[in-house]
Amino acid sequence: MKENIIKITAIIGFVAFSLSSCSKENPPLVYFPDMYFPVAYDPLMKADIAYSDHENEIPAFVKNNGATGLGPVNGTVSHDVDGVADVAMNAAMTPDQYNGGYDESKLIVASPLNPANQKKDIERGKGLYEKTCSACHGTAGDGQGPIVVSGAYSGVPNYADRQITVGSVHYVLTNGRNSMGSYAGQLTPGDRWRVALYIMSAFKGGVNPAPAATTAMPMAATTVDAKPADAANVTTSPKK
Ligand code: HEC
Repeated sequence: MKENIIKITAIIGFVAFSLSSCSKENPPLVYFPDMYFPVAYDPLMKADIAYSDHENEIPAFVKNNGATGLGPVNGTVSHDVDGVADVAMNAAMTPDQYNGGYDESKLIVASPLNPANQKKDIERGKGLYEKTCSACHGTAGDGQGPIVVSGAYSGVPNYADRQITVGSVHYVLTNGRNSMGSYAGQLTPGDRWRVALYIMSAFKGGVNPAPAATTAMPMAATTVDAKPADAANVTTSPKK
C-alpha cells in the first residue's frame, strides 16, 4: 500500500512537471510584461506591442494612424517664423568643426533675411541687443556694460577690436565662443540675424563691410585675449 502511494505520487508529479514546464508557446503567467518584453517603439509609427493584440483606442492616436507622437496643436507659433534656421548649426560639433565653421562664417557678409525689410530688422535687432547683450557689451558696443563697469565681470571685448562679420556674429550667437555663451535658446534664428545686423550697422560701420576685411581671418582669433587652448584649436582647424 505504502509503495503504491509513492508510485502514484511520482507518476502524478512527473505528468504535472512535463505539462507545466516545456511549453514555449504558452509561457506561464507573467506579471508586469513590460519588464520582460520591453517595447522600444517609434512614436511616429503605430506601436507594435509584443504581448498584446489590444488596439489603442484613444481617439487622438487612432486618428493619427496609431502613432502616439502627435503633431503641434493648431495655432502653434513656429520658432523659426523667418524660415532661416540652419539645422546643421545646432548639431554637436568637434572643436575642429566648430573652428572651421567659425572661420567660414566670417566670409558671410549678408543675412538670409529679406533685404527689403533691413531697416525694420535692424530696429528690432537694436531692441533685442539692448535687452539681451548690452549688460555686458554696453549700449555703445565698447564692452563697457554695467556688469563690466561694476567690476563683477570682465573680458568683454570692444566690437571695434574684433574682426567680425554679420555671419560670424550670428555664428557666435548660435554656438557661443569662449566665455560668450550661445543665445540659441533665447533668440529665434531670425532674431539672431537681426541682432547681428544691428551690431554690424551700429558698431562696425555697416552691415556689409568690404569682403577684403575678412581676408585677415586667422589673425582675428589670435589678437583677442584667447585662452591657450583656443589658440591651439585655431591653428589646427582643417575643415570637415
Ligand atoms: C555675460 C556677458 C555677455 C553677454 C550678456 C553677451 N556677451 Fe558677447 N561676449 C562676452 C564675452 C566675455 C566675449 C569674449 C569672448 C571671447 O573671449 O572670445 C564676448 C564676445 C562677443 C562677440 C565677439 C566674438 C568674436 O567672434 O570675436 C560677439 C560678436 C558678441 N559677444 C555678441 C554678443 C551678442 C549679440 C550678445 C547678446 C545677444 C552678447 N554678446 C551677450 C560676454 C557677453
